[in-house]
Amino acid sequence: MKTAFANKNVVMGVTGGIACYKALDLIKELRDLGSEVHVIMTEASTHLANIKDFEKASGNEVQTRLFHPKIDYRGYISRNIPIKHISLADIADIFLICPATANIIGKTANGIADDLLTTSIMATVAPVLICPAMNVKMWKNPIVQENVKKLKKLDYYFAEPEYGELACGYKGVGRLANPKKIFEMIGLLLKQRSDLKNKRILVTAGATVEEIDPVRVITNKSSGKMGASIAEQAFLRGADVLLLRGCNSVEPCYSLKEQKFTTVDDLHKKIKKAIKGIDIVVHSAAVSDFTVNKHDSKIKSGKELKLELAPAAKIFERLKKLNKKAFLVGFKAEHNVSIKKLVNSAYNILRKADADLVVANDVGKKMRGFDVETNEVFVVDRYKNVQHIKLAGKRVVADKILDAIVNNLK
Ligand SMILES: Cc1cc2nc3c(=O)[nH]c(=O)nc-3n(C[C@H](O)[C@H](O)[C@H](O)COP(=O)(O)O)c2cc1C
Repeated sequence: MKTAFANKNVVMGVTGGIACYKALDLIKELRDLGSEVHVIMTEASTHLANIKDFEKASGNEVQTRLFHPKIDYRGYISRNIPIKHISLADIADIFLICPATANIIGKTANGIADDLLTTSIMATVAPVLICPAMNVKMWKNPIVQENVKKLKKLDYYFAEPEYGELACGYKGVGRLANPKKIFEMIGLLLKQRSDLKNKRILVTAGATVEEIDPVRVITNKSSGKMGASIAEQAFLRGADVLLLRGCNSVEPCYSLKEQKFTTVDDLHKKIKKAIKGIDIVVHSAAVSDFTVNKHDSKIKSGKELKLELAPAAKIFERLKKLNKKAFLVGFKAEHNVSIKKLVNSAYNILRKADADLVVANDVGKKMRGFDVETNEVFVVDRYKNVQHIKLAGKRVVADKILDAIVNNLK
């Protein structure tokens, strides 16, 4: 567990609760195990604790403001110079809110970003661990409970507050969780952040494009978001990632190694070139089932045109032969079918391709599949075990697919 903390960036949001001084001990323990701690304090918290104490404990300057009085933002904007304002959100391996007030929970649950802490929480893709501490009546307030429920659904983690004497004189649930428990949770989340270290992963994402003539194409609705999310999350978990993405697909957030592909043939060639030495292949690209003979010049419009389509190479079925050692993961999209049928067709392609996992989704259902921000998938393994990953944002689903890969690698 000790190594999980070494050289990790812990960003800690401290909010205006009586328990904020307790965060100081946690910072000390994190630093003792080799983590770098960066503190953001809300305005309210600076009335209850001393900024200097947090600077001393963390060894870093405490950040309190979104807009720095010495920066000429208008000048930057007019000269098109990038302005760093969410750097801490980007470097975080884990984002801790300790203690977390009812207020910060409410703001986060409702998408409010009106200061440095809330803006950074909104911008981070690191796991967020919230450690509430408040009066028992506040904690029991249905609005607070609704907000907690909403955040849990969105995969925010909670170190649940405990029962006991509260600083406000009441007795009940509301005390900051035992620091030992918070510490353990941080360790587990950080461990997950490096579980793909030393693994080389090839991810394909997005749609192929077959040219009919120099201006017209046959393609599909895949945006590449699911694959890009898998590539990004694998990168954050320490993997050495190469993303092959469709020429019209979404760009990944990080500076990953990437190459763009166009046709089925182009994608096939690029995979062949890259696959040697790869440990895990996640083939999520939506590959055309057909190719077409390209006309060299633009086809005249205004008259009937018959296109002759030929079946395209089934790339997925060839991957195991190209690299026997690679752990092979494919995707199967079906349109408005029963779960049984979805799982069966995923299992069929798994057998044909000698794959290790196939992720199946039904693109005929709302909020799932092509060009949306969310997905619901079923992960099928070689023994036809099925893991259901519930409807959630693609980043969350990507992380759970990676969990399934890690568990199957063991
Ligand atoms: C002395 C004092 C102690 C407070 N303790 C808490 C607390 O433990 N938990 C909480 O949710 N709010 C507490 N509050 C209320 C918050 O400080 C208030 O809701 C504030 O707006 C929180 O802002 P922040 O979330 O941006 O830090 C306290 C307020 C005062 C004056």
